[in-house]
Amino acid sequence: MDKFKLMLSVIALFTLFFLFSLCGLKTEKARCADQPKYVGSEGCKECHADEYRTFKQFNKKAHSFQSITRLKKGLEEAEVKKCFECHTTGYGKEGGFRSEQETPQLQDAGCEVCHGPGSIHAETGDPKDIKGKLTAKDCEACHNAERVNSFKYKPLVYGGAH
Ligand code: HEC
Ligand code: HEC
Ligand code: HEC
Ligand code: HEC
Repeated sequence: MDKFKLMLSVIALFTLFFLFSLCGLKTEKARCADQPKYVGSEGCKECHADEYRTFKQFNKKAHSFQSITRLKKGLEEAEVKKCFECHTTGYGKEGGFRSEQETPQLQDAGCEVCHGPGSIHAETGDPKDIKGKLTAKDCEACHNAERVNSFKYKPLVYGGAH
């Protein structure tokens, strides 16, 4: 009889544990689904071959990590990290660039510095899941007042950036 009770409680415990882990999975998944992650420009290539090609060929952003490498000799580590904010994709943001070794796919400033993290859109292909309309505000985090004077980028927002 006691053995039977013991078995029952073990089963009950397992059931509870199972239900808990299911809930955990569900909320985890829901949270992941809500927040798009950075995938890197390669993740856009398959469906946007033209934009990708033009970007890689003509846009300096596509090689912006080289600009750091070129100048980083003699810089402090903290100064180099400052460069990452504008010359890489998503540095300092959740799921963004961390280092050349850990996140090589995000080491240049890619599609997602303008269009935002695109993992959800890259799966659904739904234009609603990505930022399509951009304004000068979307550029100013990097092309800010100090740099704007020597750099007339505003008309380009409306002329299309690629
Ligand atoms: C599985 C295919 C697929 C992938 C991968 C994909 N897209 Fe798209 N994207 C589409 C489709 C389909 C449309 C709607 C038709 C169009 O505008 O070409 C679209 C539209 C867009 C638009 C226009 C949105 C609007 O408001 O009109 C932007 C911007 C965009 N994609 C950016 C990206 C970026 C950045 C990536 C990589 C992070 C990416 N896409 C990856 C399929 C994809
Ligand atoms: C995450 C930072 C960042 C954002 C956001 C950003 N840019 Fe840039 N952009 C750069 C960097 C860095 C360079 C220089 C790359 C290099 O030479 O190393 C650059 C270069 C450029 C250039 C120079 C020409 C070329 O071939 O690339 C243009 C034009 C430009 N950006 C336009 C824009 C526009 C328009 C927006 C907004 C829609 C924008 N950028 C948003 C970082 C950014
Ligand atoms: C606030 C954003 C920002 C930061 C931080 C930043 N850059 Fe840039 N960088 C840009 C933008 C935007 C451009 C495009 C040209 C411009 O506006 O002068 C650029 C252009 C460049 C260029 C190309 C200049 C040319 O004439 O071809 C080099 C090289 C460069 N940056 C190196 C660095 C290095 C090294 C650091 C860190 C010490 C750094 N940048 C930090 C935004 C930034
Ligand atoms: C410098 C910012 C910037 C970057 C980087 C950028 N885009 Fe865009 N993108 C724009 C702007 C601005 C528009 C809107 C153009 C317009 O209104 O004519 C746009 C529009 C689009 C569209 C809508 C259709 C079209 O061509 O007008 C797609 C798709 C797209 N971008 C995909 C990409 C992909 C893929 C990459 C990377 C390979 C990328 N973009 C990189 C700024 C950017």
